[in-house]
Amino acid sequence: MDFLHYQKGHLFANKIAISELAKQYGTPLYVYSADYITKQYLEYARALVNRKYLVCYAVKANSNLAILSLLAKLGAGFDIVSQGELERVLKAGANPNKIVFSGVAKSVVEIERALKVGIKCFNVESEAELYRINEVAKQIGKIATISLRINPDVDAKTHPYISTGLRENKFGISYKLALDVYRQAVSLTNIKIVGIDCHIGSQLTELSPFLDAADRILTLVAKLKSENIHIEHIDFGGGLGVCYADEQPPMASSLMKELNKKLVNYPDIELLCEPGRSIVANAGLLITKVEYTKHQDGNHFAIIDAGMNDLIRPALYQAWMNVLPEKESQNTDEKYSYNVVGPICESSDVLAYQRQLSVKQDDLLVICSAGAYGFSMASNYNSHPRPAEVMLLNDMQHQVIRQRESLEDLWRGEIVL
Ligand code: LLP
Repeated sequence: MDFLHYQKGHLFANKIAISELAKQYGTPLYVYSADYITKQYLEYARALVNRKYLVCYAVKANSNLAILSLLAKLGAGFDIVSQGELERVLKAGANPNKIVFSGVAKSVVEIERALKVGIKCFNVESEAELYRINEVAKQIGKIATISLRINPDVDAKTHPYISTGLRENKFGISYKLALDVYRQAVSLTNIKIVGIDCHIGSQLTELSPFLDAADRILTLVAKLKSENIHIEHIDFGGGLGVCYADEQPPMASSLMKELNKKLVNYPDIELLCEPGRSIVANAGLLITKVEYTKHQDGNHFAIIDAGMNDLIRPALYQAWMNVLPEKESQNTDEKYSYNVVGPICESSDVLAYQRQLSVKQDDLLVICSAGAYGFSMASNYNSHPRPAEVMLLNDMQHQVIRQRESLEDLWRGEIVL
């Protein structure tokens, strides 16, 4: 995270002291860098010279309106998976014609709304969904533009919970059935085939699974062509990993260039991708305060005010995320190997295991790389209001982009009997 650094013993984000942010907005607090998000988006976009392309940011990674509007202004499209995400991106100023709709369980209401606003395409995940989209489109007098999400049965070599392109995963249409489903799509009155799509997993740190999936997709494209079924765009999905610890994923530009090369025989096909994590993960951090330290039975706990309710990745995927103290530790400081734990009444509420830290009550810690799947997966478990979110607009300026939830927010919509 190149915008985080120590200055005279204290941690700064750009030229802004972490302690100032904590003082002004309270903790736990999510903080994002607008410049970093812009840089990551452009890394994708600028690699695709001489090729029609659309980078569809995967909204699920972080769906704050400020982030969506920043990306919309840069020209991004969006990959959505629910009506909620659709309404968010529209509110943020997205062009409907740059929206692709993924997800295995699209409801009639969601399909109807997407057709009415005129999205670019549905990434269809099953035969049954194809027929439902056709029916809904017929009822409201629209033609639905679709792409089939193919499950290429490629091992993404990532955590099993975030691997999506294997035949046992619920996602996409089996590679074996793909041609047949395309043929069925041709025969449907209110369907127009525009693309083909795949997404094999998340936090991929090697190029090869992407390229293997691309080869399989291109084999299908050639077969479709021979049957006179023409594809206008290929969507290679998202999934590019980031560095949390010492991973060395390929650069977004290398991935895009390699995929572009694969399309050498298809100069007119538009290249789509759906990155989420790689755009926002390392743009974000979570500032948290140490409420207590506890030393007993040979264990050392730093008990912080952020928990698995605020950031579930460590508990859910055993994810390792870097933890930095706000006060730079000196060699002479007494350190312990701390388990950094939250306030939630679950033993899985551990944000980081075995970190050498020198901390005391009321000190601040920063959890790094928290911009993706952090706030968007946060909950009110144990009735904690969700944190505020702040955007660093430049080196010096910052702005709240989501208020901290109030206690009243916790029971909005509920009744006392
Ligand atoms: N497109 C589709 C259809 C997806 O399912 C996903 C992510 C993406 C794009 C974006 O993938 P990305 O570029 O962010 O890897 N909560 C997990 C990650 C779940 C990813 C789900 N799908 C985590 O925190 O690691």
